[in-house]
Amino acid sequence: MSALPAGSGPSLPRDLFLLDPAVAFLNHGSFGATPRVVFEDGVAWQRELERQPVEFLARRLGPLLAEARGALAAHVQAAPDDLAFVPNATTALNLVAHSLRLQPGDEILTTDHEYGAMDRMWRMICARTGAVYRPVPVDLPVTTAETVVETVWQAVSPRTRVLFLSHLTSPTALVLPVQRLCQRARAAGLLSIVDGAHALGQVPLNLTDLGADFYTANAHKWLGAPKGAAFLHARSEVQALLEPLVISWGEASPCRTGRRFLDEVQWPGTHNPAAYLAVPAALRFWAENHGDAVLARCRALARHTRAALNARTQLAPLCPESEEWFAQMAAVFLPPCDGPRLQADMYAHHRVEVPVIRWRDRVLLRFSIAPYNSEDDVTRLLSALSDGLRRQGITLPR
Ligand SMILES: Cc1ncc(COP(=O)(O)O)c(C=O)c1O
Repeated sequence: MSALPAGSGPSLPRDLFLLDPAVAFLNHGSFGATPRVVFEDGVAWQRELERQPVEFLARRLGPLLAEARGALAAHVQAAPDDLAFVPNATTALNLVAHSLRLQPGDEILTTDHEYGAMDRMWRMICARTGAVYRPVPVDLPVTTAETVVETVWQAVSPRTRVLFLSHLTSPTALVLPVQRLCQRARAAGLLSIVDGAHALGQVPLNLTDLGADFYTANAHKWLGAPKGAAFLHARSEVQALLEPLVISWGEASPCRTGRRFLDEVQWPGTHNPAAYLAVPAALRFWAENHGDAVLARCRALARHTRAALNARTQLAPLCPESEEWFAQMAAVFLPPCDGPRLQADMYAHHRVEVPVIRWRDRVLLRFSIAPYNSEDDVTRLLSALSDGLRRQGITLPR
């Protein structure tokens, strides 16, 4: 592979992370990977809790959570009281979806690029309520944001109640034009719910401008928090719609704030809040490690990798070469092949961890570039891919 252009920015030493050095880890997207110091911060909070559990959970937790929420809210340009910690995006979306009191015939409009577990959640809720989950086909390659907005919007009907969209899609790794779609939804009186599981730490977030009614993101993916840290943001105007997913002490909870939204969500019973409390350490990690320059290099290496893969397969890119469409995670088409076998072979024979995904009738490879990834990881990916396909009788041009 040719070298990255000069001035692309620094990478970070791999040993700042806990990752196995033998693996070319190109799947940050699935579960993230936590920097050592952030992980240690989470462990320190857990130790602190166990020194005096009553003092910690019943007296200190409320102010500690408020501080952590404050730091995160400043980072995503939101009001701290509109943002609650939850363990993951799945929980946040279940909380919102279960609160909606859907009626028979109500429609939830979405795309056919959504995360499988969330598709399943909506289908189960629709089966119970008689509502309809309607994925709009958004064909690849995508060309312009306007086309995507219009494609989704032409499917709105008088029955549409909710617009549900990923900010960054899971199978196809595309950045969707969510801000424009949320604006149109608001103007048309539809509720907007955005699944930003991959957004926090990968693309700049300004939740106030973005304007979704409900927005969730994981801190344990691209922000590098320990596993089990995410947030749900709800505009103050729609917070009253929410019902707790887990009914606990509510306004009498040990970390009560006097705000119903927070009091119903923050205390789902005894739990370990260490991952939430380590979110400020994750924010500090990026501030102290040249986050902007490091992530700019990741995006440059992602563009470079995508071009190299498309050149190797001689298949068309699935979106234009622009940060409007992808950041550190990108997907490329592969020739027709046995995807699960290819993924397993690349790991077994080359220790390259990368997902191979089926979307409609196409096979895609989705790679992630995090600060610990090097050009060498990408070279390994290219040879693992050629070798894996060769094992299936498919020869790529050199
Ligand atoms: C778009 C999207 N939404 C939701 C999720 C679920 O995240 P979690 O398992 O942390 O709840 C994922 C996980 O990869 C995802 O890609």
